[in-house]
Amino acid sequence: MKKTIINLIILVGIIEILKFLHIYPNLAFLLYTLILLFFSALLCVIIYALVSELKIFQMIGLLWKKTGTESGTRQYLKINYKNIEVSYCWRLQGGGLIMAHEFVHIVSQRIGRVEHVFEYCSGPGFIGFSLLANNLCDKLTLADVNPAAIETIKETIKNNNLEDRVTVYQSDCLDSIPENEQWDLVVGNPPWDLVPRNLPWYQRFRNKNNIMVCDPDSRVHKKFFQDIHKFLKPNGSILFIEGGEYTNANCFKQMLEQNRLKIIKSFRAVSFLDFFKNFKEYQGVSIALVILLRLGLYARQVYFIWSKSINSKNPNLLDETKGAL
Ligand SMILES: C[S@@+](CC[C@H](N)C(=O)[O-])C[C@H]1O[C@@H](n2cnc3c(N)ncnc32)[C@H](O)[C@@H]1O
Repeated sequence: MKKTIINLIILVGIIEILKFLHIYPNLAFLLYTLILLFFSALLCVIIYALVSELKIFQMIGLLWKKTGTESGTRQYLKINYKNIEVSYCWRLQGGGLIMAHEFVHIVSQRIGRVEHVFEYCSGPGFIGFSLLANNLCDKLTLADVNPAAIETIKETIKNNNLEDRVTVYQSDCLDSIPENEQWDLVVGNPPWDLVPRNLPWYQRFRNKNNIMVCDPDSRVHKKFFQDIHKFLKPNGSILFIEGGEYTNANCFKQMLEQNRLKIIKSFRAVSFLDFFKNFKEYQGVSIALVILLRLGLYARQVYFIWSKSINSKNPNLLDETKGAL
């Protein structure tokens, strides 16, 4: 994001110098017009995606009515992933609402269909439900520490008759999950910010008790990597999304290796060159939403870490973390 803004400032600077020196005044005008057109088109696409795909007016409507409870039942926002309608509240939404599409894309391209998926730190379960809706798994387990998130998941299970295929646990990390749960693929969008940092501005503005964003001393990550071997099938994978503003893959390398896990690949969700490519790989998702998704992922330097356990079934895992983000 910073780089893009700096590049834009440099471009405007060059145009202004051209104008000042009276060199190519028409070119300067043309460039400004093109930039303006580009950003206007982008704005239209974003507004379209927000209104038609993410149903932003539904959210404003609920806020307007000051709902929360109505005749004893909570009113939720809804988002559709194919045939599954997921209930959620905005405050439980940690980006998974649109990142779910990127998980579907990555899992279908790189991992393929599996039997049992688990979503860690699931919130309302956007990622897990979208994998289920896209037929990338048979069964789904979800867990989060926040009881409000569990309530939304129960609502989704009930409304979509998914009692036979989906299980949910309220759990601090993996503590309350029975060991008969065995997973082929774990996905997650855990809190990205591994606080504390000794920056005065930081301590002033960031509430480290905000469990949506902060993972003080990496506890949520460390406990997960310590315990996951009880639940991961021998050839199972873990696919987490993390924020490049806070960490890079090397921050997790030691944590993983101490628990006999290995990063097989880490990769930026969207690089600048990827921006306008491969729209067709997102089946059933409009181009407007893909652009919005990519803008968000690019601006926040979001990256994936894909890891597996080191065991007799995977003796020679490829280490591609050199040069990782
Ligand atoms: C970035 S939000 C992601 C929410 C949702 N998965 C999404 O993508 O929108 C992080 C989630 O981690 C959960 N969380 C934080 N600490 C946790 C813990 N100790 N155990 C389980 N879940 C936790 C929060 O309740 C929150 O739902």
